[in-house]
Amino acid sequence: MAKPMVVAIDGPGGAGKGTIARAVAERLGFHLLDSGAIYRLLALASLKQAIAADDQAALVALAVNLDIAFPTQGALAGEVLLDGEVVSAAIRTEACGQRASELAAHNQVRQALLERQRGFRQPPGLVADGRDMGTVVFADAPVKIFLTASVEERALRRHKQLMQQGVSASLHDLLQDMQARDKRDTQRAVAPLKPAEEAVTIDTTTMAIDTVIEKVMALARAGA
Ligand code: C5P
Repeated sequence: MAKPMVVAIDGPGGAGKGTIARAVAERLGFHLLDSGAIYRLLALASLKQAIAADDQAALVALAVNLDIAFPTQGALAGEVLLDGEVVSAAIRTEACGQRASELAAHNQVRQALLERQRGFRQPPGLVADGRDMGTVVFADAPVKIFLTASVEERALRRHKQLMQQGVSASLHDLLQDMQARDKRDTQRAVAPLKPAEEAVTIDTTTMAIDTVIEKVMALARAGA
């Protein structure tokens, strides 16, 4: 039997992957994998259990047993759960993002999370958002997109998002954090952030969200 269709969307943080992936999944009636959330959940769990960012053995054990859930129905639909507790906001902090990026550089940690991510590939199809969806996790995905934007624009978007949430943050700090994370994600030895060979790159720096969604939808339809 043919494997369910996958639309792989990769790119740096703040490029709009989350928003675009959710909208496209909704329109196609596909499942959604926010793989960054899995790394963030592992980061949060490691902080809670005071596991050091370089303790690979403990991190692998934690990754294998990680009790996480992404309910799509009922009162908790759209929330992210760790050990049965809602942590949707807690995993979105910059500290959690930085820690996620540190843990994500360990090969064994990535291996431990591989099958968990592949498990999201269910009929009728999947939109998967991350850094290595098209290069590693779903290397056979028929549709691969690399979504990017200038680092300044990504920091601005993140700043705006935080302001809307009532969180004050310095644009300068956000820009520095983003540059640090970009550097770590693109230069790591294992599954570095880069476009898959067949990926279509979309630079969203000056594009409206709806235009990006339309473009991704057209690519998804063409690849189905
Ligand atoms: O996308 P998000 O900002 O939530 O991801 C947090 C971190 O998790 C990234 O900076 C990256 O280091 C890591 N990650 C990864 N591979 C993925 C998704 C996220 O290494 N597929």
